[in-house]
Amino acid sequence: MEFLKAENLTFSYRNQYQTVHAVRQVNCAFERGKAYAVVGKSGSGKTTLLSLFAGLELPNSGAVIFQNTPTNKMDRDRYRRDHAAVIYQSYNLFPLLTAMENVLYSMKLKGIRGKAARERAEKELDAVGITPEQYRRFPAQMSGGEQQRVAIARALAAGNELILADEPTGNLDITNGDQVVSILLRLAHEENRCVIIVTHDLEIAAETDEILMMKDGVLEREQ
Ligand SMILES: Nc1ncnc2c1ncn2[C@@H]1O[C@H](COP(=O)(O)OP(=O)(O)OP(=O)(O)O)[C@@H](O)[C@H]1O
Ligand SMILES: [Mg+2]
Repeated sequence: MEFLKAENLTFSYRNQYQTVHAVRQVNCAFERGKAYAVVGKSGSGKTTLLSLFAGLELPNSGAVIFQNTPTNKMDRDRYRRDHAAVIYQSYNLFPLLTAMENVLYSMKLKGIRGKAARERAEKELDAVGITPEQYRRFPAQMSGGEQQRVAIARALAAGNELILADEPTGNLDITNGDQVVSILLRLAHEENRCVIIVTHDLEIAAETDEILMMKDGVLEREQ
């Protein structure tokens, strides 16, 4: 059984004036234990592809299939809560919750509470280099890199095995960006998750196991 795959995946944005064919007949498959990069020019369909993988959009034709179930036949809120974690370029955290509360929140949704939740949250925050002094800070009181790392800790704590990251380093300086990338690679290689990173940065892409190149909504594999 394939972990995640796209079959003839096609999606267009339509309004009364125009139709944009953002993703066209895409076929690809993803495994656990690997990190993938999706690269391509602005407007080539990368974010749309990720939204389809996350079940935030549904295909016009073709399918996104997660462990044998197509996204149009599943409870997609549950899918995102239990399986697919999405990390965006910015605005990842709940602004009115502290770093610790943000991480605890994702566990609470899954019924993990109390001391066990707190210990797990501390472990995950520690793994991404967030110190106990920072636990009680609100997102507005942290740097972009710190916020991004808390967002990753939140995805980790919830145990989601599919991590979808859209330009996760877009707002970060090189040091913070490198740190975020190495955390994402570790998740794939040491924790057996499946990590898909949309990035403009070819150096980041080169560190992953497989590069998928989008061009005008069509997927081309890099050699
Ligand atoms: N909500 C929308 N309504 C209409 N067209 C859209 C919408 N969102 C995206 N598009 C169009 O769909 C195409 C793919 O957009 P998408 O956001 O997936 O590109 P991208 O590869 O992520 O670009 P970038 O690198 O700039 O983030 C583009 O032509 C874009 O203009
Ligand atoms: Mg995009």
